[in-house]
Amino acid sequence: MIGAINQILFGDTQIREYATVTVKDIIREKVYLKINETEYEVSQNQWLLCLNPAVFGVWLPGQNNIKHLQKARYSMFFTTVSASGKEKTIAALTLDFFENISDEAGVLVLLKVKAGRIHHLNLFSTRLLYNKYYKKPQTSFEQLKAFSSAYSYPRRVRIISFKEGDYYNIFPMDLLGEIKPGNKYVFGLRHTNTALAKIIQTGKIIVSEVPFEYKDTIYKLGSHHSSGAPPVEKLPFKVIESEQFGFYVPDWVNSYKEISIIKTINLGSHMLLWGQVQNECELKKSTGHLFHIHYLLYLYQKSKGVLYPAV
Ligand SMILES: Cc1cc2nc3c(=O)[nH]c(=O)nc-3n(C[C@H](O)[C@H](O)[C@H](O)COP(=O)(O)O)c2cc1C
Repeated sequence: MIGAINQILFGDTQIREYATVTVKDIIREKVYLKINETEYEVSQNQWLLCLNPAVFGVWLPGQNNIKHLQKARYSMFFTTVSASGKEKTIAALTLDFFENISDEAGVLVLLKVKAGRIHHLNLFSTRLLYNKYYKKPQTSFEQLKAFSSAYSYPRRVRIISFKEGDYYNIFPMDLLGEIKPGNKYVFGLRHTNTALAKIIQTGKIIVSEVPFEYKDTIYKLGSHHSSGAPPVEKLPFKVIESEQFGFYVPDWVNSYKEISIIKTINLGSHMLLWGQVQNECELKKSTGHLFHIHYLLYLYQKSKGVLYPAV
C-alpha cells in the first residue's frame, strides 16, 4: 500500500535518505554564496563539515578582510538544471559566521546554518516524506532542509587511512574537501570516531580517491570502528603501505595524499581538521568517483529526466 502511494506521489517505491551516483562528465549543480550584497560562485569550494549544528566551510581565495567577514550577512543558493538545461534554485540557506581559518592564499569561513528553504518537491509532498521517512529525534524539519540543501550538490566519498603502532583504521568520509592552490585539506570527523584522538595526537591522516565500483566495500568499511577494524590480513582486499607514513591504503584506490594536520576546531558533533598535503601518489586512472546526493534531489532529477548514473 505504502509502496503504491509512493509510486503515485513520487514515482518511486523505496524512499531513502541519500542516493549513490557517479558523475560522468561534470557536476551540473552549482552553489553560490552571497556575502552582504555580493554573490560568488563557490561550487568547488564549499563543504558540509558538521551535522549538528550544520556547518559549512567555504574557501574564499584572495580574501583577508576578517572583520568584514565576521560582520557580514550570508546566504547560500543551490541550483540544478531542468531538462532544457535551465538553471533552477532548488534550495537556499541563511547562515551565521562561526569561525575562520586564514592563510596566505585566502580564508576558510565556517558558517552555521540558521534557516532554509527547499524546492525539490511541493511543500505537501516534502512534509509527507519528512513525516513518514525522515522524522527522527535527531532530524528536525529544519535539519532536513539543511541536509537536503547541502546534498543538493553531489558530495564525493573518499577513504581515510590511519595507523599508529598496532592500531589502524580505514573508513569512508564525505564531509571533507580539497583546497587545490596551497594543497590544503579540510575534514569534518565525528567526535565518536575512535581514530579522531589518535589522528589529532599524531597529526597524520591519509585521504584516497576511490572508484564507485567499490561502493559495497566502501560502505562495509563504514561500520568498523566501534567494534574495531579486523586484523589487516582479514580485510577482503589487499593493502599497500603508503610512501611516507607507512599507513595501509587499499590497493584499489586511484590515488592517495599524505596529510599533516595543522589545526583543529570543534564544530559541535564533528571536529574540523585542517591539513597540509605532504605527499601525493597516483596509482590508477579514475573510472568515476562515488557521490552522495540527497534523495529529494534524486526525486527532482527523476521527475525531470536528468538523472546521474545510479551506482
Ligand atoms: C559513505 C560514508 C561517508 C561517511 N562520511 C563521514 C564523514 O564525513 N565524517 C564522519 O565522521 N563519519 C563519516 N562516516 C562514518 C565513518 O566512516 C564511520 O563509519 C563511522 O564513524 C563509524 O562509526 P561507528 O562504527 O562507531 O558507528 C561515513 C560513512 C559512510 C558509509
